[in-house]
Amino acid sequence: SNPERERLLQAYEWTSKFFHYLLKNTEHGKPAMDYLRARGFSDKMIDQFQIGYAPESWNTLVQFLTKRSFDLEEMEKGGLLSTRSDGTGFIDRFRDRVMFPICDRTGRIIAFGGRVLGDAQPKYMNSPESKLFNKSRTLYNLHQAKSSIRKLRQIVLFEGYGDTIAAWEAGVHNGVATMGTSLTESHVSMMKTMADEILICFDGDRAGQSSAMKNIPLLESAGIRIKIAILSDGLDPDDFVRKYGSERFMSQIIEGAVSTTKFKLIYLKKNHILLEEDGKISYMKEVLPIIAALSSSTEREVYLRELSSEHHLSYESLKQDCNLIRQTMQ
Ligand code: UTP
Ligand code: MN
Ligand code: MN
Ligand code: MN
Ligand code: MN
Repeated sequence: SNPERERLLQAYEWTSKFFHYLLKNTEHGKPAMDYLRARGFSDKMIDQFQIGYAPESWNTLVQFLTKRSFDLEEMEKGGLLSTRSDGTGFIDRFRDRVMFPICDRTGRIIAFGGRVLGDAQPKYMNSPESKLFNKSRTLYNLHQAKSSIRKLRQIVLFEGYGDTIAAWEAGVHNGVATMGTSLTESHVSMMKTMADEILICFDGDRAGQSSAMKNIPLLESAGIRIKIAILSDGLDPDDFVRKYGSERFMSQIIEGAVSTTKFKLIYLKKNHILLEEDGKISYMKEVLPIIAALSSSTEREVYLRELSSEHHLSYESLKQDCNLIRQTMQ
């Protein structure tokens, strides 16, 4: 159809095979392989997710693509190469990074995420937007997850590559990732055609939890049911699987995911010093309107009773305050 698109797809396909080969079969790839092993990536996952290694070199990919008669300027526009700073030609864009191929929903590679082996910044370098890659419409791993998603009518939403892969190995085959960006309208409308429920499983750090919080209204207004996994200690799903194992991940994190209301109650706790009277009162002032806004009186009762027993307050006074708030909301 579009010949430039097809050539770029070809180049990504070749490049990904090349990086995967370098990772698995060469001396150059060994530090990257050791890094992946130390992080708990199995050979099976390395193959299935076609993880690779871009060598520490300025021209390995340039030569590889030249040999295969690709147009280097086209490859630069497509995000595989960069221009030399003095403008005299092209260099490899990704150097000394572990490479995660990013596919479209049919499984064709359209971009890469490349991770440094150590702590250097930026931690991940992603392909730029191109003829193939539109970040706001792409969900990592959708091509492999879609059949399970359609069967379960549920999507588990992660932040990153490692989370999706670790969770896959633990048994979550309906997991995709936003790759760190916030969820867009097009992500949501795509997901809505495949699933009725999204289980948000973001990182347990402040950034992850607040981004989960921010994504609730967008999903709710699209009419999608939401559950939220609670990760604490700043762990992300990948860390959790490694630290506590697959079984505990599946039971505690995935099956233990909570409603949005419960999540908000837990999330907002952190802003208040609950051991002090003032803190307890300001927490109630913040959460009672959330409960008051629930249309089902059963639901309101469930959460009010939980608050009551957790914070040693009478159910009656909480209910009374909640009803007062409801009156002002009419
Ligand atoms: P995180 O910072 O949580 O990284 O970003 P991570 O996936 O846990 O990475 P590891 O475990 O340290 O390797 C979540 C996701 O956001 C995107 C990546 O897709 C990452 O997986 N991201 C993050 C970027 O694109 N660039 C960055 O510099 C950082
Ligand atoms: Mn392989
Ligand atoms: Mn994160
Ligand atoms: Mn993370
Ligand atoms: Mn991580």
